[in-house]
Amino acid sequence: MSQVHALVPAAGLGERLGGDRPKQYLDIAGRSVLQYAVDALGNHPAIARITVLVAPGDNHFESLDFTSGATVDFVAGGATRAESVMNGLNHVDSDCEWTLVHDAARPCLPAECLDRLLETGLAHEVGAILAMPVRDTLKREGATGQIGATVNRDGLWVAQTPQLFRAKALASALSGQLAAGRQPTDEAAAMEAVGLHAALVMGSAINFKITWPEDLALADAWLSGRGKIGS
Ligand code: CTP
Ligand code: MG
Repeated sequence: MSQVHALVPAAGLGERLGGDRPKQYLDIAGRSVLQYAVDALGNHPAIARITVLVAPGDNHFESLDFTSGATVDFVAGGATRAESVMNGLNHVDSDCEWTLVHDAARPCLPAECLDRLLETGLAHEVGAILAMPVRDTLKREGATGQIGATVNRDGLWVAQTPQLFRAKALASALSGQLAAGRQPTDEAAAMEAVGLHAALVMGSAINFKITWPEDLALADAWLSGRGKIGS
C-alpha cells in the first residue's frame, strides 16, 4: 500500500466549546482529544508520518506522547483551517504521493472507516472523503425563527474527515483558492473548485467533530466505554 503523510489541523481556538484551553487539548479518560485523533491515524500501517498544525505560540502539545508507530511532528498553523492545512502541505514528505487531512477535533474515528477510506481513495483518480448521508429532515430558516422551507435531502451528504488526496494536487487547488481570497471549509471543496471530484465513502455517526460542550460528554462516553464493547 502507498505510504500516506497525514496532516492534523489543530490550530483552532475552540470558541464554540469554550473551556480553559482549546478543545483539542481537553482531557478524556486521561488522554487529550488530539492524542486520540493522532493515534487513530498512526495505528494504520499506511500512515508513516503525521504533521500536526498548531497555533503559533501554543505549547500545550509539547508534553503529549503518542502511542502509534508513526512519526509525529508539529508545524505552525494559520489563521483559518484552510491556511493551517496549506502550511502542512508545504511540509509533506516528497516520498509520499498521498496526503490525508483529519480534524484534531474528531477523536473517535473508527479503524474500519479509515480502512474503507484508504481502500477506496488510493484506488481513485482524485481521492476520497468520509461522509454520511443526511439523516434528518432539513429546514431552511425563514423570517425570525420561522421555517422558510423544507430542503430536499435526496443525495445530500455531510462531509467528515479524514479526506485523502494526492498531495501535489491538493496543494495546487488549495493555494489557488487562498490566492483568490476564498477559505474552503474542507479539502474536497478546494478540489471541486478545480473540477476534481473525490469519492464519497461511508463514515460513521461516531466520527463526529467535537464542537459544542455536550459533544465532549458524548466522546467521553464512547472512548471510556469502547474497551467494554469491543470497538
Ligand atoms: N483549525 C486549524 N486552524 C485554524 C482553525 C481551525 O487548524 N485556524 C482546526 C481546529 O483545531 C479543528 C479543525 O480545524 O481541529 C476543525 O475546526 P473547528 O471545529 O471549527 O475548530 P475551532 O476553529 O477550534 O472551533 P471554533 O470554530 O468553535 O472556534
Ligand atoms: Mg472553527
